[in-house]
Amino acid sequence: MLAGRRILLIIGGGIAGYKSLDLIRKLKEQGASVVPVLTRGGEEFVTPLSAAALAGHKVYRDLFDLTDEAEMGHIELSRSADLIVVAPATADLMAKMASGLANDLASTLLLATDKRVLVAPAMNVRMWQHPATQRNVALLGDDGVLFVGPDSGSMACGEFGPGRMAEPLAIVAAVEAALANGPMRGRRVLVTSGPTHEPIDPVRYIANRSSGAQGAAIASALVALGAEVVFVTGPAEAPMPLGVELVRIETAQQMANAVAAALPVDAAVFAAAVADWRVASASGSKIKKQAGGALPVLEFAENPDILATVAQMQSGRPRLVVGFAAETDDVIANATAKRKRKQCDWILANDVNPATGIMGGSENAVTLISQDGADSWPRMGKDAVAAKLAAKIAEALK
Ligand code: C5P
Repeated sequence: MLAGRRILLIIGGGIAGYKSLDLIRKLKEQGASVVPVLTRGGEEFVTPLSAAALAGHKVYRDLFDLTDEAEMGHIELSRSADLIVVAPATADLMAKMASGLANDLASTLLLATDKRVLVAPAMNVRMWQHPATQRNVALLGDDGVLFVGPDSGSMACGEFGPGRMAEPLAIVAAVEAALANGPMRGRRVLVTSGPTHEPIDPVRYIANRSSGAQGAAIASALVALGAEVVFVTGPAEAPMPLGVELVRIETAQQMANAVAAALPVDAAVFAAAVADWRVASASGSKIKKQAGGALPVLEFAENPDILATVAQMQSGRPRLVVGFAAETDDVIANATAKRKRKQCDWILANDVNPATGIMGGSENAVTLISQDGADSWPRMGKDAVAAKLAAKIAEALK
């Protein structure tokens, strides 16, 4: 239910605009009040009169409408809402949002707001897939903008693929999720993820096979519960989670610095596969092949143990510190010993024996080790592991 919630609905220019009229009805059926804003392009597809009639509210169209500036300025209009929804969001409107342009009413409201923004993109397949649009989607995600859709299917332009605006019911569900008073609202959580790269010289590095998929899934699950998430990630293959404060690093030392800078937090989840060692004297220039066949010798130095450092903080320690243990044998015994050694609250142990296919795969089989013992979860998707862990974290921080 959305009783009493105020939605500012920006309708961009696209044929999907006809669905926005249905969206207004469905939001109102849930008890929300809807204030429509039409872009110039939006007006080509939806008449101000029909939007106003369905919303039961004046439609805003022009930045320089002086009556409205006297009555309600654009700053106030953008902040009096609980959520801003952009549906349909055109490629042009998303590009404006991503680069901070404010040259009409819709883009000015989007720049001036201090509320969350939910975007329902709708455009031709090629436009959606264009690197420029994908770059803008990633930038907006980094800024905490939420997305619903686009769906795949046949399009008004005759092509087939992703680009259709999400159905009104799916948008209503996304609005409800965005406005839900999640159990983690007001909590700040740090998640480390991905591998680290330890340079040998400017072109070579030592790395590991972590995809970053489990860490990204945990961050998304925490965001869905309303947490503010700082996501410190090495160079990972998995897509970045949306709605997080993203900090990209390469080396373990950089990760340690980024973690220190992110504190204080209520909880910290260390899902990164941090390299235990770095090359002690990484060369500042590319190491050349020796004519006589002499091989370079690498000396290693130990990296800081980030998890142990945070778990053993004397003051300002997060209330809950969660580590991972990737083991190939004696999983529970080794992970239990690791929890004691590092002094973290929980360890999620997983069997990364190549036979399990877990490393780099989409599933995980974990055992949660705490002071109460070992709790083995059935094998499930990494998203499901993340949702279960996020729910447990919410419970522990109550
Ligand atoms: O000691 P081990 O690498 O097996 O421990 C794994 C756990 O410790 C993971 O949670 C990992 O993120 C964390 N870790 C860390 N800093 C390191 C090494 C591991 O935070 N240098």
